[in-house]
Amino acid sequence: MQILYKSDPQRGALWQQWLAQHAPDIQLHLWPETGDPQAIEIAIVWQPPEKLTETFPNLKALLSVGAGADQFDLAALPPDLPVVRMIEPGLTQGMVEYVTFAVLGIHRDMPRYLQQQRAAQWQAHSVRPAATRRVGVMGLGELGQAALRQLVSLGFDCAGWSRTPRQLDGVQCFHGAAQMGAFLARSDILVCLLPLTAETRGLLNRDLFAQLPPGAALVQAGRGAQLNSQDLLAALDGGQLAAAVIDVTDPEPLPPSHPFWRHPAIWLTPHIASQTQNESAVAALLENLRRYQRGEPMVGLIDRARGY
Ligand code: NAP
Ligand code: GLV
Repeated sequence: MQILYKSDPQRGALWQQWLAQHAPDIQLHLWPETGDPQAIEIAIVWQPPEKLTETFPNLKALLSVGAGADQFDLAALPPDLPVVRMIEPGLTQGMVEYVTFAVLGIHRDMPRYLQQQRAAQWQAHSVRPAATRRVGVMGLGELGQAALRQLVSLGFDCAGWSRTPRQLDGVQCFHGAAQMGAFLARSDILVCLLPLTAETRGLLNRDLFAQLPPGAALVQAGRGAQLNSQDLLAALDGGQLAAAVIDVTDPEPLPPSHPFWRHPAIWLTPHIASQTQNESAVAALLENLRRYQRGEPMVGLIDRARGY
């Protein structure tokens, strides 16, 4: 089977080697080398090449090397072309670590202590037990569920919000627009792990921040276009929010003049919350390719109607 890879070349070279060893029937072509374009059945990419389906007329599926597939213009792809995102344990574990770091950092007042340190100010604030800190995770998919398992094990008072009803051990679950207000009202730390869709674009805005308890904090590890930057700055400066840990922005990178770089209540990281891990991901890729060969649905299939 002939596969096209177009993303980080170093990862591509590793995957090519690994597949040659573990699945010699599968040949990975590293863009811009494509072999015979007519023979390419699967493309695994971050950004697809232009004229994808014209160049590779026998393409049977488009796979994302990342957890999201929002970088694809789904409307421009043939409606029956399966689009698949990456689900692999290394990527999930990375997000668990990032969310845990951010929630613990906020819970233990680290943004405030960092500001105090810069001002040479030795001042203790009372330490709250995790059980009294209400954490709300938006998005109860692969990443949200894994992050919540860790947060529950640390003793936080956890809730989650999804589009359709979910049940998770130790987590108060909310769903849909009708239950969003109740979910937000009990979220001292709000974590966004939503995919970018028409419904979630711009969702983290002034109206939403106003529904959080005063002094709440935000952890944004979804996608940059979900957050209204000006509304976040206003909520921080007005005291409605106390802190924000931001991993994703719009655009990426932010221009040097953007206030996020220097705002004392913002911790900004350059879209590193989680990354596809070469070794675990290539094993997950191979498993999905075998599923395809057996005629089974691949893991991580995007539902084109709902957009994620
Ligand atoms: P997933 O498994 O598809 O889960 C998505 C979750 O979001 C589901 O629970 C879904 O609800 C919920 N959802 C979607 N639209 C919603 C809406 N309009 N209202 C309420 N809930 C909604 O996705 P995942 O693998 O957990 O990944 C989530 C996102 O994390 C990715 O799409 C990507 O944007 C982001 N991400 C960021 C990084 C980073 O480094 N910062 C790394 C990886 C991923 P249902 O349960 O009802 O379907
Ligand atoms: C990173 O953001 C990913 O989608 O994997």
